[in-house]
Amino acid sequence: MIQTILSGKSKPIIVGGVLAYLNDNLPIEERVKDALSRMTLEEKTRLSYADGRFSTPGCARLGIPGLMYSDGPHGVRAEICWNSWDYAGWTNDSCTAFPALTCLASTWNPVLSKSYGVAIGEEALFRNKSVLLGPGVNIYRTPLNGRNFEYLGEDPYLAARMCVPYIQGVQENGVAACVKHYALNNQELWRNHIDVQVSDRALYEIYLPAFKAAVMEGKTWTIMGAYNKVRGTHAAHNKLLNNDILKGEWGFDGCVVTDWGAAHDTYEAAMYGLDLELGTYTNGLTSNSDLGYNDYYLGDAYLRMIKDGKIPMEVVEEKAARVLRLIFRTSMNRNKGFGAMANENHEETAYRIATEGIVLLKNESRFDKKPLLPIQKGAYKRILVVGDNAIRNLMMGGGSSELKPKKVITPLDALKEEFGDCITFSQGYVAGRPMFDRADVIPQSVIDSLYSAAIEEAKQADLVIFLGGLNKNYQQDCEGDDRKTFELPFEQNRLIKGILDVNQKMVLVLTSGNAVDMPWIEKVPSLIQSWYLGSIGGKALADVLIGEINPSGKLPFSYPVRLEDCPAHFYGEISYPGDSIRQEYKEDILVGYRWYDTKKIKPLFPFGYGLSYTEFQYGKPVVSATELKAGESLEVKVTVKNTGKVAGKEIVQLYIGDEKCSVLRPVKELKDFYKVELQPGEEQEVAFTVERDDLTFFDDERHEWIAEPGRFKIYIGRSSEDIEGTATFMYCD
Ligand code: GLC
Repeated sequence: MIQTILSGKSKPIIVGGVLAYLNDNLPIEERVKDALSRMTLEEKTRLSYADGRFSTPGCARLGIPGLMYSDGPHGVRAEICWNSWDYAGWTNDSCTAFPALTCLASTWNPVLSKSYGVAIGEEALFRNKSVLLGPGVNIYRTPLNGRNFEYLGEDPYLAARMCVPYIQGVQENGVAACVKHYALNNQELWRNHIDVQVSDRALYEIYLPAFKAAVMEGKTWTIMGAYNKVRGTHAAHNKLLNNDILKGEWGFDGCVVTDWGAAHDTYEAAMYGLDLELGTYTNGLTSNSDLGYNDYYLGDAYLRMIKDGKIPMEVVEEKAARVLRLIFRTSMNRNKGFGAMANENHEETAYRIATEGIVLLKNESRFDKKPLLPIQKGAYKRILVVGDNAIRNLMMGGGSSELKPKKVITPLDALKEEFGDCITFSQGYVAGRPMFDRADVIPQSVIDSLYSAAIEEAKQADLVIFLGGLNKNYQQDCEGDDRKTFELPFEQNRLIKGILDVNQKMVLVLTSGNAVDMPWIEKVPSLIQSWYLGSIGGKALADVLIGEINPSGKLPFSYPVRLEDCPAHFYGEISYPGDSIRQEYKEDILVGYRWYDTKKIKPLFPFGYGLSYTEFQYGKPVVSATELKAGESLEVKVTVKNTGKVAGKEIVQLYIGDEKCSVLRPVKELKDFYKVELQPGEEQEVAFTVERDDLTFFDDERHEWIAEPGRFKIYIGRSSEDIEGTATFMYCD
């Protein structure tokens, strides 16, 4: 190999007997510089576009390997063919399916986020992947978005806190995280072209913070440009997003990767910050012409523009340097471990995240003054389990986050394990095959017979556990399109009401990545919001139902009573889903609870809400000072006591409101949180620090973060609505 290198264009720099760019002991920047000095123009531009469905090349002549990419945010996807979307049919690529990121967000536990990243990174490393295409951090703006299950909820602070440790964990393995989809990809309908109009305030205060944290704290090595347009230009090569904000204001030194087929213009791709172009077809966008990779926008056309003097060489050098830096960080990084695949440690991590993410929404004592949950062993002779989600492999479908898990424990498996012959099952409804482009049509006769059978069984049961919700079918929790209704699909509402008419003792478990309509809410005594819980999900759910685990999850998004209450739906079609060309985020900064608080609309369940099998009592918050000056900080302390009979975890939330401001601001905004674990009778003091940065809003005229002097209010809550105590202080700049 040395001979071929020596025949190259420049005299080799040999340090310690090794060519500089090959020398792991040298700083990466020196290696990048040395490699660039040896590469031809053609070799530099060849780095930036695909040579396979999930791969981009290095420089073979210099012995520089390329990059291998894999979905997804919840597990390492089964191997896909080099040059088609078909699965390769490997028999050794079954993975651990971790819970969906909405479940991770519901844990409000950054420590679990780190464990998640380390484990999924180990599986990506084991599969020889350089880039893991996750996490997704797009803000939950509407409950109809098909991909909310892949994201971290409606609040930018929670999304930021929960994505950083995941990214750090992945990258500890020498695998690049790829935070996505940058930016404003908050729906799937018309995702390839919808042109999002949004104010700078909403952009900086709501839609960018998680990406900013991923870059500046998580140090993500790659970021994926979204399919949609932002203010007229495709996000993948958008000057404002990539050059001004990402690489300018945030100092991002990694690579901007397209979403697959998201590049649309060579000059823009070259000049507005795109570094790696991947595609849906061999020529990027439109066809599977044989080996058409050079037809990519950053293929021959890019090289031609450079040779025509239309692209400055410093742009070419900088783009190639970023790709080389990524290669040296990943595929050429000899300090990596060997990874691990679908082992017990990973299953334990998946289980812990699943159990801590499950949210108890209702548990009323309607029968003998006791709640139905936790279900006492031996208390019931005949427990009926109803619902397609009791038996469905919910890791299949949903789009690119689809997984081939090594293990699938369904809720029915786990409940049978716990309750043996007391369990009977009736499917109740059927959801059909998980398809990406159309819904399965189920004959009404099948629907009716399943319905009738379930009703008959319910009449005989002592307890009914209903496992319903959404699933990964097209136009549900699935990429590529949005839900067409806020309602539960497959006539579940009719079935839930029909069962309640004959048996009131129902524990209803909804599995979904989105809020849904709950017309039966008053009649349901016990309600759980569950998520796509991954490989060990059935056991995690069963352990919560029987009280082995005390639920501690809290909602990462608000549950509106009606879809029309939701801010994205208040201003008509131009706001959601747009007019098929343009879309205006008219609610601006008032996303989620910010809207419900400010417009005084009561949600069905508020952001940050979740119950426990025990009770927690809050003391009054104590503030260390009544005045905060710029550059100083003040402390907020509050005691929390477990006044119940079982151990439990509580998420203490700190919100701050600006009592008087020259611009509209939400009543309050989440600025910190802390999850405590308390034994019965145990009390703990939780302390938060408040600084100027927690008080600011983005002034889009001055283009900077401003804290106006005046009175601010601290809210300590167990949810965004259940405020246990407040305190005020004056800010003086
Ligand atoms: C898809 C998704 C993206 C995924 C990529 C590769 O279109 O939008 O999240 O990583 O293509 O499958």
